[in-house]
Amino acid sequence: MAKKRLLTGLQPSGVLHIGNYFGALRPFLDTYGEFQSFLMIADYHALTTLKNPKELNENIMGVALDYLGAGIDPASATIFQQSRVSQHTELAWIFECLVTVPFLSQAHAYKDKIAKGLEANAGLFNYPMLMAADILLYDTDVVPVGKDQKQHLEYAREAAAKFNNAFGETFKEPGELIVESVATVPGTDGQKMSKSYGNTIPLFGTKDEIAKSVMSMVTDSTGDKPEHVYAIHCLFKTEAELTPIYESGRRNYKALKEALIGDIEEFVAPMRERRTEYAMQPEKVKQILEEGSDKARGIAEAKMKDIRKKLGVAF
Ligand code: ADP
Ligand code: TRP
Repeated sequence: MAKKRLLTGLQPSGVLHIGNYFGALRPFLDTYGEFQSFLMIADYHALTTLKNPKELNENIMGVALDYLGAGIDPASATIFQQSRVSQHTELAWIFECLVTVPFLSQAHAYKDKIAKGLEANAGLFNYPMLMAADILLYDTDVVPVGKDQKQHLEYAREAAAKFNNAFGETFKEPGELIVESVATVPGTDGQKMSKSYGNTIPLFGTKDEIAKSVMSMVTDSTGDKPEHVYAIHCLFKTEAELTPIYESGRRNYKALKEALIGDIEEFVAPMRERRTEYAMQPEKVKQILEEGSDKARGIAEAKMKDIRKKLGVAF
């Protein structure tokens, strides 16, 4: 029997943080061997907010290195760049002609971004339909994401249903994989950790950068333990391992933060080393992206042929 398909993507809109890792990348890492897996760099999604070519270019390479550093084996997962598979933007347009403006207006992610002062460009508004295309082109079964993307998965299912109703059964409705314990990793201020909130702990930061972020964490002094520090610490150690540390460090927040820095460092160091090895071989990384994108394009084009025929544009 053919393996089920797993696909996720991250935007190269900045440096990945531990929320991205535990919310999306780790669930992918933990399961991708059981699936036919696709890991995308959502660079056209990043264009909705990032208009600096040099920065975008560096970030694309950065996310590719992050994927490889995190331990994704390019022989087992197709790592590819969204912009190199033009079928994604083609299908997004088709979905945009099927869903309504009021439907898209309800997207929380869009409303949040506008509330934060981001430009309300049409790309940002149509974002969920490009994401639907990313997923549906590959007949994806499962999409590992953080909780904030749950509604976007509902949008993808809706796009699939709309197309299937109008043109006949074509798309599979995908399911999300949200690991509840890490669904929303808090940032240094206790809000959701996010690149756009300036409250991140960088995944591949230097030890000093990680230490600086952890030391800046807001500590709530009402309880015995600093809740945000503890919540992050739980990502790296079990409750049983943490109990004695937090007992002996009662109210000594500095010592607890130092313990957390040590645990993050221990976890990240081998990944950082692997990332550095790849960073020294940029041609190899570019080749991985090229081969992955070629493979993805082959699958996407086969699907598009059927879609174009159903739409009535192909002869
Ligand atoms: P950001 O909010 O930092 O810009 P993205 O929107 O690019 O992050 O998200 C990339 C992936 O990481 C998505 O699957 C998202 O759900 C997940 N993610 C982002 N922030 C967190 C978080 N704080 N906790 C858990 N998952 C997260
Ligand atoms: N919208 C996702 C985010 O901001 C990134 C993304 C784009 C994605 N396309 C995707 C995630 C397809 C999963 C599947 O995090």
